[in-house]
This record gives sequence, structure tokens and C-alpha cells, in this order.
Amino acid sequence: MKFIASPGGQQLSGDIRVAGDKSISHRSIMLGSLAEGVTEVTGFLEGDDALATLNAFRAMGVQIDGPVNGKVTIHGVGLHGLTAPAGDLYVGNSGTSMRLLAGIAAGQNFTVTMTGDVSLSKRPMERVATPLRLMGVEVETQEGGRPPLVIKGKGSLKPIHYDLPMASAQVKSCVLLAGLYAEGQTSTTEPAPTRDHTERMLNGFGYPVAVDGATASLQGGGQLTAMAIDVPADISSAAFFMVAASITPGSVIMLQHVGINPTRDGVINILRLMGADITLFNERVVGGEPVADIRVRSSELIGIDIPVDQVPLAIDEFPVLFVAAACAQGTTTLTGAEELRVKESDRIQAMADGLHILGVDAQPTADGIVIQGRGAEEVVFGGGEIESHHDHRIAMSFAVAALRASETITINSCDNVATSFPNFVALAQKAGFKLEQVD
Ligand code: S3P
Repeated sequence: MKFIASPGGQQLSGDIRVAGDKSISHRSIMLGSLAEGVTEVTGFLEGDDALATLNAFRAMGVQIDGPVNGKVTIHGVGLHGLTAPAGDLYVGNSGTSMRLLAGIAAGQNFTVTMTGDVSLSKRPMERVATPLRLMGVEVETQEGGRPPLVIKGKGSLKPIHYDLPMASAQVKSCVLLAGLYAEGQTSTTEPAPTRDHTERMLNGFGYPVAVDGATASLQGGGQLTAMAIDVPADISSAAFFMVAASITPGSVIMLQHVGINPTRDGVINILRLMGADITLFNERVVGGEPVADIRVRSSELIGIDIPVDQVPLAIDEFPVLFVAAACAQGTTTLTGAEELRVKESDRIQAMADGLHILGVDAQPTADGIVIQGRGAEEVVFGGGEIESHHDHRIAMSFAVAALRASETITINSCDNVATSFPNFVALAQKAGFKLEQVD
């Protein structure tokens, strides 16, 4: 499927609730399945990634009803109630499913083999295999540490302290979830703050996780108790509309019920440093996660050196932040973001290539990019044909770029937009994008 994104020319407006948070949706299925009792989830992301997790737990014997209009009912089986799946678990494009499930699979008394699509099959899995082996589990990866990932579950694991070599919530979560099955205290220390949804949700399920600075720890052998989960809208999906409204003159967009967890709000901080007009309303805490309604008005953006401490807090939002940088006056420089090279695509290269095709000077570096903003011009981008490399966020970012383009932008291989934001095209059209999808 392709996107045909025609030049904008009109202001964006509207009150929008974007899709449910992907990270929280995954974790709601995982912890709901491992809990005692029935967990009701609302606002669940009905995207392919979260559904991959849902199907994996069904395959391990958990009764899960839905999703129907974002509502899912999970009949928890307890920490020791999962059963061996009949075959391999295929988790599609979803790194979160594979890496977090690896931690849970480690504590079972059966073997789990996980496979993925063409993009996931190229992504590094040794980062979870290494700590799981330290916990005493036999783990196989393929050449270069890639999937399929085979976890020979051991029932009871050795507790470890793990110093994460990279800022990764997936690796941290994998170790903590395996720690549920360890005899004693398992802990992680991260080099920079990463999303803490696992820690928050475990506490919500009555499973204490102690957090002391960069270290999170838990005792194995406890019990999770079912709870109700209201999944907020995903700030990573909201980011496309934040940038869209910022770069399109005369725009005002209100984004409802967006998760603003401080480990995820880098996109707001970075856009504000660039001069964006973003205001939070009705700040509240829902199920342990901070949420707000966010108003974004267009403004003239300026190029900045992106503070390195914001990088893990905005790690999924850089593709669209690069579009904002191209629309800013002056140079924007990103460093310390080598993790972008091992996401659903090499996001530094994919964005640099696409921006070049559209006439923007964007120089990739080993760990970032330098973008010469063209914000003084009314029209920032030319037209052309862009490869998304099956990466949802690359596809949506170039749809946003069309709002300041002179010609149509055609974006190839957009099916995976459904992994995180299945109704992106409909919401974008409602806001005023001239965006079509064609098979
Ligand atoms: C996620 C963690 C991040 C992020 C991904 C979702 C999670 O990955 O990029 O989209 O839900 O834990 P890393 O852990 O690799 O940084």
C-alpha cells in the first residue's frame, strides 16, 4: 500500500484522539495474562503490534476477549498458568513483543520460538539474549544475533543485577519480567532514563518495583492482581499531529487524552525548544500514567542542537522531528542517537535519503544527523517518491512533510502504519491533510 500525499495549502484544525499507546497496550496484555483475575482494558491500540502480543498470549492458553472498540478483557492465568504454544509465535513487526516476551518465556517450563517479519528479522536480539543467559536460560539467536529467537524456558531463574549497555526500555523490561521468575532480587541500572511503563504497571498490579535513581528492582515469586487499565492516546502517534500543526501556518489542533509520562515527553520539550506553541490542559493521572489534552498552534520554528538528555525521551519521534527541523530556520543537529539505526528501519539513513529526494540538505552521521532548515521558505520540500522501508514512522513522517511541499510525495510500503496507528489516514484527512492511500 502507498500513500499519495498532496501539497497542503490549508490550515489544519480539529479535536483529535489518536490511537492508544503502543507500549502500554503491549504491557496490558502481558501483565493482564500473568495476573490473578480478570483485567479490563479500555483504549487498547488495535494495531498489528499490540495484536501480535495479544495473539501470542492466546497461543499460550490465555482467554482474551476483544478487542471491540478498544475494549479487551483478559482472563489472567497467574504467573505459572501459561501453556506451551502449538507452534512458533509470529510477532510481525513488533520488537516490543519479541523482547518483552523473551523475558516472560524465560520463566516458563517450555520452549518458545519467536519469528518476525522482514524488518524485525534484521533487528538485534542479543541485547536480550545476553542477560537471559546470565539468568541461566538457554537462548538461541541466528547469525548476527537476529531472530528467530528461541528461549528454552527454565521455570526458575537466577536473579541478577544488570547494567544496561544501552538506554532501552525493552531490555530493561525483559530483565524485570524474567525477574518475576527468579529466586531473589533482580535489578537493572540504565545509562539514561527510558520509558517506565513496565515498572508503573507492575506496581499497579500490586507487584512492588522499587526505583532508586537509575536502578529498578523487584523480588521474584510474587503475584499480580488484576486491575482496570485505561490506555491513554500514544504521544508517539500524537507527535505527527504536533509537528503537522506546528509547520502549517494558521493551524490549531487539540489532541485529547495523550500520555505525557516524563520518560516519553521529549518530543514536547524538543519542539518547545524549537519555538513550537504547545499548551497542556487538564493534566491528570489515569491508572498511574500522567495524561493531558494538548493544544498545538502553528509557529515559526528555529533549528537547535537537540539536548542529548532528551534523546531516549523522544526516541520514536525523531523521524517526524527531522521534518520539523527541515521546516525550521537554521541548522538542527542530533547526536547520541545511534539507537535510531536499529529501529524498524535505519531511521537516520531512511530519513536522510527521503529528505534528499525532497531537496533538503540532511547529512547523516554515525549517531545522528545535521539538517539545514529551510523554514524561511514557504515551500520547504519538493515532490518525489520515497521508500518507507516498511517503517510506519518513516511513512507517516513524509505524509506530514507534504504539508509544506510543492509537489505530491508518494510514499511506498505503508502497510506497517497499521502496526501503531491504524486510523492515521482517516484522522489526518479529518485534520485537513490531502492524503490518500492506494493499494
Ligand atoms: C519500547 C521501547 C523503545 C521504543 C519502542 C517501544 C517499549 O525501544 O523505541 O518503540 O515499549 O518498551 P528500545 O527499548 O529499543 O529503546
